Amino acid sequence: MNYDRLAYGRRVLREELKKLRNTNYMMNKEFIQHGTTSVYQHCVSVAYRSVIIAARYNINVDMRSLVRGALLHDYFLYDWHGCSLKELHGFHHPRIAWENATRDFDLNPREQDIIRKHMFPMTVIPPKYKESWIICIADKLVSSQETLKMHPSHLQPRGKMYD
Ligand SMILES: [Fe+2]
Ligand SMILES: [Fe+2]
Repeated sequence: MNYDRLAYGRRVLREELKKLRNTNYMMNKEFIQHGTTSVYQHCVSVAYRSVIIAARYNINVDMRSLVRGALLHDYFLYDWHGCSLKELHGFHHPRIAWENATRDFDLNPREQDIIRKHMFPMTVIPPKYKESWIICIADKLVSSQETLKMHPSHLQPRGKMYD
């Protein structure tokens, strides 16, 4: 484990969450992702898990893009449980999240790739950057645990990040 990278990632996550306060992003607290987990909590968990993966395997990532992309990867802004064709949500939401995110925030190509490709292999074109691959994997791990209601405490961000 590269503890310097972990500490840096945690700091970036706190900073980026602070920047998102008082923006449309806070609407994510109102939407449920899996089980009782809000989209907001889900995205924070995916960001934190991505930081852990980068630190654990000592991957030299663009940390700010990794965190920002993770926080915005599910910025689709609707209750997908209410969709008549729920199964299509998996295919369409990366594009909707990308459209919303590029409308509301200034995103670099890496952050955009993270959002658009995070459902690979559902989205046919594979991720282009290592940061996108990390979030693609972190999202699947976190989603499975949320669905199964497993919340390993050592994999959750400490402090008030969920508030
Ligand atoms: Fe997603
Ligand atoms: Fe997700």
